[in-house]
Amino acid sequence: MQKKRIAIFASGTGSNALNLIHFFEGHSSIEVAFVLSNKADAPVLESAGKLGIKTMHFSNKEVADGSFLVKLCNDEGVDWIILAGYLRLIPSELIQAFPDKIINLHPSLLPNYGGKGMHGRHVHDAVLANGEDESGITIHFVNEEFDKGRIIAQFHCSIDPSDKVEDLEKKIRYLEHSYLPTVVQHTILT
Ligand code: GRF
Repeated sequence: MQKKRIAIFASGTGSNALNLIHFFEGHSSIEVAFVLSNKADAPVLESAGKLGIKTMHFSNKEVADGSFLVKLCNDEGVDWIILAGYLRLIPSELIQAFPDKIINLHPSLLPNYGGKGMHGRHVHDAVLANGEDESGITIHFVNEEFDKGRIIAQFHCSIDPSDKVEDLEKKIRYLEHSYLPTVVQHTILT
C-alpha cells in the first residue's frame, strides 16, 4: 500500500514539526512529504533539512494564494496537511481541495482562547490573566475561520496559582509533544 503523505506547515521553531518528523521516520504507512514555512528564517527549515526532509519557503503572498498551494500539494502527492505552529490563514481553496484533511494544533482548550492573534504566549498570557485553573491543547480540523473547525481531541493540564507564562508554556509543550503524533496517526489511519 502506498504511504499517506503529510505536509507540515510551520512558521517558527518547529519543535512540533520535528517531533512529527521523528515519529513518522520509518513508519509503515505515513511519511512526511515536506515542511513548508512562510518565514525564510524559521528555525524549523534548517532543523528539518538536517533531518533529510524537503523544506520550502514561500512568501506571505504566495501562501495566501489557494490555487498555488493546491497545485503544490497535488504535485507533491500530499494526502494530509498538518499545521504545527503555522500562523497564516489557510486559503479556502486549499480547505475545499483537502476537506477534513487539514489538522491544526492549538495551545488552549478551544473554543476558549482561540481566534486571530491568539497564538503562542498571547494565549498563555490571557489564560493566566483570567485566573484559569486549567488549560490544555486542542487538535482540530481546519475550516475557513481561525480555530473554529471540528475538534478531534483535547488534552488538559492544571495551572498552579504560582505558574508563570514559562511554566504554562512547558506544560502545554509537554502535552503537544506527547499527543500530537499519535492523534495525527490515528486520524489518518481510521
Ligand atoms: C505551539 O504551542 C502550537 O500549539 C502553536 O504554536 C506553537 C508552536 O511551537 N500553534 P513549535 O514551533 O512547534 O515549537
